[in-house]
Amino acid sequence: MAFPRIALFAAFVASITNAQSANPGVGINPDAQGATDDTTPSTGPNGLAQHRHNNQRLEPPFLALENVTHISITDFYNNIGSACQQYDSYFQSASSTYNVDAVILAVIAMQESSCNADAGGPTPGLMQVSCENYPNGQCTDSIQDNVDAGTKYFKTQLDSADGNALVAFGSYNGWFTADSGLNNGKGLTDGYPCSAEGQSNGVPQNLDYLHQVLNGWFMGLDVYGDDSWIGTYQCDQSCSDGSKC
Ligand SMILES: *[C@@H]1O[C@H](CO)[C@@H](O)[C@H](O)[C@H]1NC(C)=O
Repeated sequence: MAFPRIALFAAFVASITNAQSANPGVGINPDAQGATDDTTPSTGPNGLAQHRHNNQRLEPPFLALENVTHISITDFYNNIGSACQQYDSYFQSASSTYNVDAVILAVIAMQESSCNADAGGPTPGLMQVSCENYPNGQCTDSIQDNVDAGTKYFKTQLDSADGNALVAFGSYNGWFTADSGLNNGKGLTDGYPCSAEGQSNGVPQNLDYLHQVLNGWFMGLDVYGDDSWIGTYQCDQSCSDGSKC
């Protein structure tokens, strides 16, 4: 009776597979390379994760910010982004100042600090942005200053990347492209965050950053909770035990 055994095995594999993917129900983004209906550990509706091949240089495909697929800010606040809702007025204000959709800002705050305005570190606050980006170049206790500083930094990166949202989101986490001079001009590679040069720059870049933001939070998935399977590097920011980031 081979057949029932095969069927059982198939059902077992399917149950594992299901735990490692989710269909956010937004459809494939037609402007994103390598996009899939489901978010999986390595891709999803906003595509990408295709731009680092075998430790070769980072060459992100172009995706305009206006063409990034995402859930509405209301859906975000009503579900996984509930911790961010109390800061909505700050996101809305920065949104009008810098012309960046408020849901983009709320998602950055979620990824960066889980929307904890008291988060510390060298790049503090909701947006985890360094003090040099604040008005007057100095950190303040103002949440609005923090959100403005993060938004301004993001917008500056977007403009200098000729509108490529993938480069701008990556830059927010310290990613860099081949023209930056870092890593012998190669752009961010898998081996860089934990290399000697990478470690001399402080906290290693999170090699799952783009994927977590674009195919996780923007899809309404809980990247730091039930959907922590999103990503293939599972960075622990320690560079120990074989972690690449
Ligand atoms: C956004 O996507 C549309 C439809 O694919 C495309 O025509 C447009 O050029 C894109 N916008 C930018 C700024 O690339």
